[in-house]
Amino acid sequence: MAGLRDLKGRVAVVTGASSGIGAALARELARRGARVALVARREDRLEALAREIAEAGGEASVHPCDVAEGGSVEAAAKAVVERWQKIDLLINNAGYVRHVLFADHAVDDIERMMRTNYMGAVHWIKQVLPGMREQGQGWIVNVGSFAGKAGQPDESAYSATKFALAGLSEALGPELAPYGISLLCVHPVLVQTEMFTPEVMARMPRGSEKRFMTPERFASETLAALGRGDVDVVIPRRFRGVLLLRALLPGPMRRVMGRVKMAALPEAGP
Ligand SMILES: NC(=O)c1ccc[n+]([C@@H]2O[C@H](COP(=O)([O-])OP(=O)(O)OC[C@H]3O[C@@H](n4cnc5c(N)ncnc54)[C@H](OP(=O)(O)O)[C@@H]3O)[C@@H](O)[C@H]2O)c1
Repeated sequence: MAGLRDLKGRVAVVTGASSGIGAALARELARRGARVALVARREDRLEALAREIAEAGGEASVHPCDVAEGGSVEAAAKAVVERWQKIDLLINNAGYVRHVLFADHAVDDIERMMRTNYMGAVHWIKQVLPGMREQGQGWIVNVGSFAGKAGQPDESAYSATKFALAGLSEALGPELAPYGISLLCVHPVLVQTEMFTPEVMARMPRGSEKRFMTPERFASETLAALGRGDVDVVIPRRFRGVLLLRALLPGPMRRVMGRVKMAALPEAGP
């Protein structure tokens, strides 16, 4: 896949830019000279980030949007092109997690999560494809999860949304390559963001907090992978070893993963 190193003058859409990984990616893209279209539902947060970027000498625009709604994505994508005339890079980062046992997880929320974490990316890719094909180039980054590489107990619905996104990315990459469009899927493991509320931390295995990386470090490693032209990256890379073991020893690895995760839950088990 063709790498994207020189971001100067490129137009980049970042979904989920109102906090965490998305905000860090937006700041770093702007710092490297990209024009950044900030997408999320909390407009006040996007406005504050756009001001911060402008004060630092960068360029950004604000596009309130619920990625789970196709019509909202279509309107936002149109507004981005009106503002910047094109889209070179799309980063599908918007998403949310629930740490809850499947038996306790409401079906409505399971469906909403799929519409956000998976269909949100589908809607955005559909919107940017015609323009990228016309340009003869483009870059798409899907933010998956380690939970989309190895199923995580207590996050079953979330894991399913991220497996869906990983599957889409793997299958779609070769379809887009002939048009000069590159697709990278990045899989964060533990990044310190608002996603990890005290309630979530209480359900995580002890010592998880020691494994966190900062959103800034994650953003920088993601942009390095984009620059290299990678197609699929787990960040941090050392967790690839766990995935190798999972592929070689699926039964034992599932038992170990299950024991580690379930031991942290007060209500688990009959
Ligand atoms: N942090 C980690 O360790 C980790 C690990 C694996 C994967 N990830 C993935 O990384 C991505 C970013 O997460 P984060 O850790 O940065 O969490 P975060 O700080 O909670 O950020 C999530 C972002 O997604 C946006 N979002 C959620 N639902 C949306 C919707 N329906 N429409 C538009 N935007 C929506 C939120 O904005 P609004 O609420 O303003 O809409 C927010 O900007 C997610 O896809 C997450 O699954 C994170």
